[in-house]
Amino acid sequence: MTTPDDLTAADSTGAAPLRAHAVAPHEPPLLNAEDVEAGYFPGVNILNGMTLYANKGELIGIIGPNGAGKSTFLKAVFGLVAVRSGTLALHGQDITGKRADELVRLGVGFVPQTNNVFPSLTIEENLQMGIYQDPKQFPARFDMVCGLFPMLGDRRRQRAGSLSGGERQMVAMARALMMNPSLLLLDEPSAGLSPALQDEVFLRVKEINATGVTIVMVEQNARRCLQIVHRGYVLDQGRNAYEGTGAELANDPKVIELYLGSLSQA
Ligand SMILES: Nc1ncnc2c1ncn2[C@@H]1O[C@H](COP(=O)(O)OP(=O)(O)OP(=O)(O)O)[C@@H](O)[C@H]1O
Ligand SMILES: [Mg+2]
Repeated sequence: MTTPDDLTAADSTGAAPLRAHAVAPHEPPLLNAEDVEAGYFPGVNILNGMTLYANKGELIGIIGPNGAGKSTFLKAVFGLVAVRSGTLALHGQDITGKRADELVRLGVGFVPQTNNVFPSLTIEENLQMGIYQDPKQFPARFDMVCGLFPMLGDRRRQRAGSLSGGERQMVAMARALMMNPSLLLLDEPSAGLSPALQDEVFLRVKEINATGVTIVMVEQNARRCLQIVHRGYVLDQGRNAYEGTGAELANDPKVIELYLGSLSQA
């Protein structure tokens, strides 16, 4: 049974020895987003100067109200929404405007908020899709993700559409891990899951991070998210309104009042 203690970031399992106050950006950070503006329709920006960095080995959370632009930010990093101004850099290399397939080759994995598995394909076929750019690596990577998620190996011939929501989320994360990414972008991995399955997903996210993968995770489950991340950002109206360690944000009176209030009364 999962306890809240299992989900705190400040344990000894992390690959990087991150302290609660390790908030300064490395030079260069693994991911650096500066003043990013992006949107879907001409003249209408959804992101209005989003600025964020993730150091190597960090687990970063992004929380914020519905429609704030959280998913749009991840899509902008992954080349699915055009960046109008500002810059995105990976390991100090400019990636602004790169296509998703190029970003996958550069070590970026993305798990979208919805439709993140192919329901008519088996688990194994879904994972093959994740490594179509380098199929020779399939056996080794398949073994690796089965180490993290044993059910994938046990049920490799089962169609993804017949899995539970939590299991599908595991397949989606495993697919993104097939190319051995250094950066994993997760959009609401716990959405729509029961509290027990949410705990399971958060534990898996921590385990993936502990293997050395830097993670930027968007979550609507804000309090839970702030418990497990090293640092977090509150995104509001397309820019970061607050940032700090998970504990700093979770205890900040303004953040509680504006973004965690209803949850804190729950
Ligand atoms: N494909 C799209 N085309 C046009 N507008 C879009 C598209 N996707 C999102 N938007 C708009 O962009 C704004 C931000 O959406 P986004 O999905 O980034 O928010 P979010 O913070 O992820 O919200 P949620 O918590 O509901 O997932 C919203 O006003 C939304 O209607
Ligand atoms: Mg979203």
